[in-house]
Amino acid sequence: MSDGRRPAFDDRLVLAVETSCDDTCAAVVDGDGVVHSNVVSSQAVHDAYGGVVPEIAARHHLERIDAVVAAALRGAGADLADVSAVAVTRGPGLTGALLVGLQAAKAIALTRGLPLVAVDHLHGHVAACELAPLRFAPPYVTLVASGGHTFLARVQEDGRWRALGGTRDDAAGEAIDKGARLLGLPYPGGPALERLAAAGDPLSHDFPTARGVPGLDCSFSGLKTALLHRLRDLDPDAAAEGAAPASRLPEQVRADVAAAYQRAVVETLVPRVREALAHTGLRRLAIGGGVAANGALRERVGALDAEVAIPDRALCTDNAAMIAAAARRCAPLPPAEALACDAYASGERELVG
Ligand code: KG4
Ligand code: ZN
Repeated sequence: MSDGRRPAFDDRLVLAVETSCDDTCAAVVDGDGVVHSNVVSSQAVHDAYGGVVPEIAARHHLERIDAVVAAALRGAGADLADVSAVAVTRGPGLTGALLVGLQAAKAIALTRGLPLVAVDHLHGHVAACELAPLRFAPPYVTLVASGGHTFLARVQEDGRWRALGGTRDDAAGEAIDKGARLLGLPYPGGPALERLAAAGDPLSHDFPTARGVPGLDCSFSGLKTALLHRLRDLDPDAAAEGAAPASRLPEQVRADVAAAYQRAVVETLVPRVREALAHTGLRRLAIGGGVAANGALRERVGALDAEVAIPDRALCTDNAAMIAAAARRCAPLPPAEALACDAYASGERELVG
């Protein structure tokens, strides 16, 4: 606030920026984990290409980032004078997209003399459950399932975490997006698949759930192939007649297939979660990542015999409030390092707690 009225939380506000994929995000969060604003500007342009086009994503971030940051500050009733640190996603993600957020955050931090905290996107998904009102505290087991990553980890008392298992091939969200595409649904597939599945029977088809994969890992590639084969069985002439796999199926059949496919994703993940709880001896579980916005998964996980933290849907899909949550644990970069801080697309840093 620039008129001398400063809110009680002003000295502990973190402004966070997240641009790792196709959502331009900024948020204002205080030291108690209260989210004062959480602005997400989704790019509705990628559907025509069936997935995110990195170059287009970066350009859209560039066009929107200033307005999104301004909207986050406005929504929090704050201005930059009220902000005590700037947090930003450094990776993993699309390099060009990440760089837009990183440069914006650096510019704000350096011109205002504020500390810059560079955060790993996956740490953000893990930390979403630590925001108000849940304020879930370690130790806990976390399942993060997003479009690019799927893993189970044990979050220790000091906030560091150890990966317990991951995916052998596709991420859960990737499997959902590819399945949704086969069913003729728009990108991103998750919300559309969930809507279609609502009218279907989850037991109508039997899809594989990768029970044979050892340890706490999971796999989704067989599921995706099984869906393609099932759609071919349901309309054997589609390919020869130039029709898309599910385009000629009755709506109820598509809904049944969607519900069974969604069930298979959930039933691939949930047994692993149960095993991870047994393996660690912890009875505390959190979920995060875009797939954790799925109602069927939330319901199944919520019924497990454990204390379960299920963040609001808006804190599961990509957002900047979760980046502020993770930043509360990280040391700010010294000014020289902040200036030089680069983005990373992927790499071993992903799973280091
Ligand atoms: O975490 P996120 O927003 O971005 C990444 O870091 O990847 O996750 C995006 C993924 C996409 O695959 C999207 O289809 C999926 O999360 N998703 C959902 C739902 N909402 C988003 N999957 C299932 N049900 C949903 N309601
Ligand atoms: Zn994400």
